[in-house]
Amino acid sequence: MTNSGLEGISVADTAISDVDGERGRLVIAGLDVEQLAQTSTFEQAAARVLGAGAATTVPPLDLARGRLAAWELVPRVGDALDQPDGMDALRTALAHLRPTGHDLDDALAAIAAAPVFVAAWGRRRAGQPAIAPDPALGHAADYLRMSTGGAAEPAAVRALEGYLVTVVDHAMSASTFTARVIASTASDLISALVGAVGALKGPLHGGAPGPVLDMLDAIGEPARAEAWLVGELAANRRIMGMGHRVYRVRDPRAAVLELCVRPLSSPRLALARAVEAAATKILAERKPDRPLAANVEFYTAVLLDAVGLPREQFAPTFAVSRIAGWSAHVLEQRRTGRLIRPASRYVGALPAVATGG
Ligand code: COA
Repeated sequence: MTNSGLEGISVADTAISDVDGERGRLVIAGLDVEQLAQTSTFEQAAARVLGAGAATTVPPLDLARGRLAAWELVPRVGDALDQPDGMDALRTALAHLRPTGHDLDDALAAIAAAPVFVAAWGRRRAGQPAIAPDPALGHAADYLRMSTGGAAEPAAVRALEGYLVTVVDHAMSASTFTARVIASTASDLISALVGAVGALKGPLHGGAPGPVLDMLDAIGEPARAEAWLVGELAANRRIMGMGHRVYRVRDPRAAVLELCVRPLSSPRLALARAVEAAATKILAERKPDRPLAANVEFYTAVLLDAVGLPREQFAPTFAVSRIAGWSAHVLEQRRTGRLIRPASRYVGALPAVATGG
């Protein structure tokens, strides 16, 4: 029997992160996600995942030089940044990075470059000139400044930092598996990251936060939530931001992000809570055998909107963080993995058996 979704099949031993879907616990490089988000900058969290399980620790990353190097590339990336979809733009722009043959160097270059490319794409899309990196700023602050064009409020920077740390890694997600499969063929790290961006683009994985915000806009006020959700389900549509392949309870990252967004006094937060409560109730009635609760994308949408990023930039912003996790998995795959080459069950036609004369 084929297990086409590979549920429950372990394809790697990893020290990078662990998801307990029954209890709703996420451990990243030895820390609960709640603790990591409270105590780390993105640079520290990225160093933690890159060094997880390695013989030597990786010091907090200095990404400022890499952002400046990526800025030099922006004119050469050219048409990539004219694409209407930010994930397409990021995928093509990252493909401009030249593999050096040293995985950690390539990882640092790509982690540093991602926010520069995404912010430049967002500015171009809005008809504005791209903004150069400021090496004096931290990664989160500089990404926000390059995206929005002004010095960011400290509370917004803290919220975005919390987001980038929270989503830095999440065990064997589809994009991480993609990166590891590519790395397992002994291909280069940049190719693995480009493939992972392609996997993350899909709405069943990382593309949901934009649609979550669309949903909140369509609902408008808490009193309309239930009727709207019932209508969606009657039209055979899924409720975005709800459900998860692994979690059978609320995604712990939803709680962390909800906390991060609170100081920003977002007008959408109260609405989001009401919609989540209504969706949880309705889905429990419809699918009593399949617990469906809020996933990370639900409050991602509220948070990224509250810090001032446009919704088209939500999925690429996920990649700005997860690129560190993907890189860590490529490094780990090199150390401990082997060629990933599963089997398939042939259900096609068989050649006709020649009958002897
Ligand atoms: N809204 C309504 N029904 C949902 C649902 C949702 N968000 N998520 C799952 N279901 C239902 C499915 O329709 C299916 O019902 P069926 O058995 O009657 O066909 C059942 O629950 C199981 O769904 P399945 O697609 O097998 O689960 P999965 O593990 O493959 O899917 C997701 C996980 C995340 C792809 C799925 O929950 C989803 O599509 N969520 C919305 C998109 C989203 O938020 N993505 C971001 C993920 S972090």
